[in-house]
Amino acid sequence: MRKILVTSALPYANAPLHIGHIVEYTQTDIWARFQKMRGNECWYICADDAHGTPIMLHARQKGISPAELVQRMSEEHQADFRDFRIGFDNYHSTHSEENRELAELIYRRNLEGGHIVSRTITQLYDPEEGMFLPDRFIKGECPRCGAADQYGDSCEACGATYSPTELKNPYSVVSGAKPVEKETEHLFFRLQDFEEMLKEWTRGGHLQPEVANKLDEWFEAGLREWDITRDAPYFGFEIPGHPGKYFYVWLDAPIGYMASFKNLCEKQGLDFDDYWAEGSDAELYHFIGKDIIYFHALFWPAMLDGAGFRKPTTIHAHGFLTVNGQKMSKSRGSFIQARTYLTHLNPEYLRYYFAAKLGAGVEDIDLNLDDFVQRVNADLVGKVVNIASRCAGFITKRFGGRLSAELAEPVLFDEFVAAGEAIADHYEKREFSRAVREIMKLADRANQYIDEKQPWVVAKEAGSEAELQAICSMGLNLFKVLIGYLRPILPGTAESAEAFLKIDPQQWNDLATPLLDHEIGKFKPLMTRVDPKKVEAMVEASKEDMAAKPQKQEAKKEAGVETIRYDDFARVDLRIARIAKAEFVEGADKLLRLTLELGEGETRNVFAGIKAAYPEPEKLEGRLTVMVANLAPRKMKFGVSEGMVLAAGPGGREIYLLSPDEGAQPGMKVK
Ligand code: 2FM
Ligand code: ZN
Repeated sequence: MRKILVTSALPYANAPLHIGHIVEYTQTDIWARFQKMRGNECWYICADDAHGTPIMLHARQKGISPAELVQRMSEEHQADFRDFRIGFDNYHSTHSEENRELAELIYRRNLEGGHIVSRTITQLYDPEEGMFLPDRFIKGECPRCGAADQYGDSCEACGATYSPTELKNPYSVVSGAKPVEKETEHLFFRLQDFEEMLKEWTRGGHLQPEVANKLDEWFEAGLREWDITRDAPYFGFEIPGHPGKYFYVWLDAPIGYMASFKNLCEKQGLDFDDYWAEGSDAELYHFIGKDIIYFHALFWPAMLDGAGFRKPTTIHAHGFLTVNGQKMSKSRGSFIQARTYLTHLNPEYLRYYFAAKLGAGVEDIDLNLDDFVQRVNADLVGKVVNIASRCAGFITKRFGGRLSAELAEPVLFDEFVAAGEAIADHYEKREFSRAVREIMKLADRANQYIDEKQPWVVAKEAGSEAELQAICSMGLNLFKVLIGYLRPILPGTAESAEAFLKIDPQQWNDLATPLLDHEIGKFKPLMTRVDPKKVEAMVEASKEDMAAKPQKQEAKKEAGVETIRYDDFARVDLRIARIAKAEFVEGADKLLRLTLELGEGETRNVFAGIKAAYPEPEKLEGRLTVMVANLAPRKMKFGVSEGMVLAAGPGGREIYLLSPDEGAQPGMKVK
């Protein structure tokens, strides 16, 4: 029995999960479930990545402590994971005692090994906020092309990269103040000390070949010291012996893998060293996105090596998710939050679709929504579930639910079992699309068997009872093998199928044993077809989400840290409006349709996501409020929205429309 520890990247405790995240968790979960089915000791762990400046500022903007924000996000994340059936054995946080201890230990050992050095550097500092500014929290004019409002590290207009001190007219996005240069003492991790080890390790079969090639470029550019320090104020762990200095979030994030496992050890009585000590015979796998390879394939093994811990067995990077061939986009409604998906569609559909697309490489994968509907319906409903529904009724009605005592076609059954080794091999190598192809070939073969035997014709022939029972029992036994093969991908459907077949959760070894003279339960449809209308509704809701939360457009804006100039503000035409009519919109979960009067006979049609807060819309009629009158008209599913009303509050039922003082008239400009 192999001992395996598997991780997915730790999501930032700053934002909800979207379906791009779900690719990775699905991929890892399928692999971990497969290992467990094979009888290996396999632990799948994760945690929230809790530290860093964006989280600190986000919490401040919400008026809560970072610890509280982290707690809330963790609950949201865990609910999403649970509903997508991501079966973590433990979910922890990097803001935990285990992580503090391990981060300090790894730091101390590297310090003792001479791999940590201290230097004074000059950084931009926000004198109003009293904080050093990360590159992304400084904006200004690009030193190359002059474009306004560019970040401190690169220009989105011309692509130039530079240091924040080169920006023209820089300002802090936290306070708007002009940053000043200030000296500070930082600790650095000497990555270059590990060059030989890393060169060998990265070529030692621990990485995908394309990733190892990418690393060569980094070696050629030369390994440099890594700044592991952030100055207060910062949400993280203070560095021992350096008051006011904190570990950079990326130092303690991967250590969070260890901390989550340590926490599991405490709960389960496992031996931590068994998995993490140098020379451990346990296997350690990290599944990550290709954007964070540098941290996982260079810094992380180096830190572990410097601290005398084992290094990962393999790091598996995957590509990004595109939707309908394009980057996920809020305006197209393809930036779909995990929760929005779950509100509209069955998680097993998406798990299957991702599995059918995932290989072992780092290529991006595309969720084409038409193909999604077509493929899930054709494969899962049309092929797999169909086998059971074609056979189960006869067994229940004519044979009291009892399967025949012998297999009608043992050779065919053996073929299905024999295919298992190739399928297992594909799973093991993370070639899930290949595994799915093999399984669907078998599903076609099973349907072909039923087509040939025509149980519905046999059922009408006198004296052919035994034959009918044998055909349907054979069909159901083939179904049992198939659903077993699909179990890592479709844990929910497999569970329902096992309940219907009245069997225990299947392990891989159980798949070779047919059900003979066995009583099954009553068949209930295991999965319904994907309804394209629900897909449309999900896309619409993703647009609505955005309309309801315009401040969420970008993480930094969400943190409430972006400042605008007065003339930016002056461009917004705010007006007093009278709500002439307020009504429900058929088919919309969150929207009300408002007819707003702006004076002098001008009216506007506006869709507002305020239904939950105003369940009796007619009560709004006659009331004055404030609207954005020069918002470009937006075409929505239910019509064109010609502006926006202003409201306060977190959302849902807690939305409070703004009202002017008495005396204000429709059409008056708000300034
Ligand atoms: O990129 C990210 O979303 C990080 N929060 C991933 C951290 S993975 C590990 F190192 F903790
Ligand atoms: Zn530029």
